[in-house]
Amino acid sequence: MQSIGSSQTYSSSQTNLNKTEQKVSFFDKEGFVGPFTLGQTASLVALRDAMSKEIENSQAEETSTESPQSPVMDRRIAHITSKLVYDLSTEPQILDDVADFLGSNLLFWMAETIVREPGHDGHIVKKTGQIWHIDVINGWIKGVHTSIAVTDMTMKTGCLLVIPGTHKYEADLPALEEAGECDLTDASSLLRLADQMHPENAPHQIKAIEMKAGQYCFTRGGIWHGVSRNNDTRTRFGLVARFARPDVEIKNFAGNPIPCIVVRGEDSHQLNLLKTPPEKD
Ligand SMILES: [Fe+2]
Repeated sequence: MQSIGSSQTYSSSQTNLNKTEQKVSFFDKEGFVGPFTLGQTASLVALRDAMSKEIENSQAEETSTESPQSPVMDRRIAHITSKLVYDLSTEPQILDDVADFLGSNLLFWMAETIVREPGHDGHIVKKTGQIWHIDVINGWIKGVHTSIAVTDMTMKTGCLLVIPGTHKYEADLPALEEAGECDLTDASSLLRLADQMHPENAPHQIKAIEMKAGQYCFTRGGIWHGVSRNNDTRTRFGLVARFARPDVEIKNFAGNPIPCIVVRGEDSHQLNLLKTPPEKD
């Protein structure tokens, strides 16, 4: 990410304000921002240890890691089932950033841990390999997606790949693939498609967001993205967490409410299904 300079004529609070404005405008324009450094917090170490233990247990039992064995490994609902997931996702530094993007009232509506073994292709859908896609629900609720590196996320271990600016294109990628306009397993076809759709922004490029353990980044719903293969000998661990404003109805594809937790401010809109933070690990 570009560094943000300061001027001697500014007070420190003015400088911070400028940095925040630059962070927010970069995020709005590019659809991603980061990485930022949280560090090896107690919450990160605790989650990493719990995930390692869970993998060991599942391997000992010769069961698949795809099957949730504990709240820490719950798919998409770990924000309401796992205190370890909740604690790392809601570190004050992370929520401060999210508040800069969404305002002072925040709902936490999705979290899941990510485990990618050596050789894993990132996203696997029906064994078709790496899939470029859009996080559709996050797009329509205009949410903020946070990716936290629990272990290193690099081009070697696998990391998030984004095409900056595409969050504004409102593309239906599966439909475009169906129409022969792109191949969702072929990154270069996505770049060509983006150039065709918005030549004013050509040439589009792929940005790899590499992060050390303890770093995090944000993406906007709607951005075209994929995940690179884990070419390391170690399993990669990550955590994703999503936040939204309380004036938006947060529902799944079937139209059913997704449980949320108020993590900053208040919810005066009462549109959503609210839960209390998880108390157990
Ligand atoms: Fe995604």
